[in-house]
Amino acid sequence: MAQTFETIKKYPGLEESIIKKALDEATAIVKANLPEFTDKFQSSNSFDGFYEATENVEWTTGFWTGVIWLSYEHTGEDCYKEAALKQVESFLHRIEEKIDVNHHDMGFLFSLSCVAAYKLTGNEYAKKAALLAADHLAERYREVGNFLQAWGNVGQASEYRLIIDCLLNLPILYWATEVTGDSSYAMKAKNHIKTAMKCVVRPDNSTYHTHFIDMQTGEPTYGVTHQGNRNNSAWARGQAWGIYGIALSYRYLKDPEYIDLFYRVTDYFIEHLPEDLVPYWDFDFDTDSEEPRDSSASAIAICGIYEMIKYLEPEQAARYKEAADKMLRALVEHCANDDITISNGLLLHGTYARDSKENTCKNRGVDECNTWGDYFYLEALVRLTKDWELYW
Ligand code: GLY
Repeated sequence: MAQTFETIKKYPGLEESIIKKALDEATAIVKANLPEFTDKFQSSNSFDGFYEATENVEWTTGFWTGVIWLSYEHTGEDCYKEAALKQVESFLHRIEEKIDVNHHDMGFLFSLSCVAAYKLTGNEYAKKAALLAADHLAERYREVGNFLQAWGNVGQASEYRLIIDCLLNLPILYWATEVTGDSSYAMKAKNHIKTAMKCVVRPDNSTYHTHFIDMQTGEPTYGVTHQGNRNNSAWARGQAWGIYGIALSYRYLKDPEYIDLFYRVTDYFIEHLPEDLVPYWDFDFDTDSEEPRDSSASAIAICGIYEMIKYLEPEQAARYKEAADKMLRALVEHCANDDITISNGLLLHGTYARDSKENTCKNRGVDECNTWGDYFYLEALVRLTKDWELYW
């Protein structure tokens, strides 16, 4: 075990001046990116430090729009709002025409772009797009097994499984219930997380990335990785999706079972951090490994902790806040980009996917920026400046 809550105390924490400087540097880079990335979106990961311009495809474009909304909230400047609202039009078109949406990632795409737009500006197109996305996600719900099928055509035997990442797609369903009064969206989310928690959290509190469900009985069958190092290892980003996903479901459901699960999954993450507090891409690797880091995993985990501490007893809240602040300080020191000539991203040293013997990935975005790393890094910083109303 690399860390404990005791050892983490020795690391430097965050001061207001550090948060302000990090936010100012990040939003300056976002502003410089607007001319290239308003009609187009950022690619999922950077290439030699630089995002390329893409159409509104893949599961990741909402992160860039979310980054623009966060920048708008931090600065109050209209240039961000105008760019983000332009992108909302693209999201409405995408869901109406069903472009590259045969998967479960409606929350990643539409919470951060359109739910955010609706909450911040009351834009009705944004509301329409987000509700269509919630409907589309709800169609992926499988009664046999009570879960949202992640990938492939719904009901396809070879893809009858859930993945831990999906926990971040649930809030758009809770939101849809709040907005429409139709409880069926939230019920599907509630049933999904129940099934997911039964499947993915192992007795040692590490997590499976993906888990298959028996198509006839609905019983969980076996877990395998897609992006982790081994089927039985803890993929760092998957563990982080667990932390934030559990916190978000607790926010909406207030089921005390999720407090206990939060402690288990979060303690595993914190206790397996290497010496400099920036996780490797899988917790198989520790201090002095040559393997790449995944800074985005830490940014996601930090946001999850900042959300969950709102609901914990003060002593526990202080303990987890201290750990998260130190993790964020480590990101600012080791991974934050302050120079647009070396990268147009915000958070360096992420890993989208790393090839291994047991996983099904090719190397992609290794030691690069990725759009979700940028998003969660900025969300974490913004959360420290105000009582931030979630886009989730
Ligand atoms: N949700 C996909 C990933 O984390 O790479």
